[in-house]
Amino acid sequence: MAGVAVSTTINGDSVEYLCQPDETLLDVLRDRLGLTGVKEGCGTGDCGACSIILDDRLVCSCLVLGAEAEGRRVETVEGMAHGDRLHPLQQKFLEHAALQCGICTPGFLIAAKDLLAKNPDPSEEEIRFGLAGNLCRCTGYDKIVRAVQDAANVMKGA
Ligand code: FES
Ligand code: FES
Repeated sequence: MAGVAVSTTINGDSVEYLCQPDETLLDVLRDRLGLTGVKEGCGTGDCGACSIILDDRLVCSCLVLGAEAEGRRVETVEGMAHGDRLHPLQQKFLEHAALQCGICTPGFLIAAKDLLAKNPDPSEEEIRFGLAGNLCRCTGYDKIVRAVQDAANVMKGA
């Protein structure tokens, strides 16, 4: 199969790659570009482990083709910290011990970033609703919700 040449922007950087027409953006990010923060859980759009932001919209990268990133903006967990400075969400996930195995964590961080961009002061219910597409087998969710609430407070004050 002939490859598709794609020009896109990932975490603020211009990126070009070749991919197969049927290759998912998840596979492109992980296998071609080394952005392994994006995780594969189900591969069918059910777990949220592969969450990314595509042009300001939260999507499952396992349901997007690599070719569809042409001319668009992709954000992954790798773009959240600035140098050694963690994003407030990352800091609060650590402080609240909102992760155990960590497989779901990048997806939760990206989903929470998207949520707070659209709703900087969410209620607990809104956080739970906003993160409902992300599954965690370890934490029981409460610590994740507290971490997002705390990060929202920090970001409001910043
Ligand atoms: S791997 Fe994409 S939603 Fe589960
Ligand atoms: S920390 Fe293990 S699945 Fe969430």
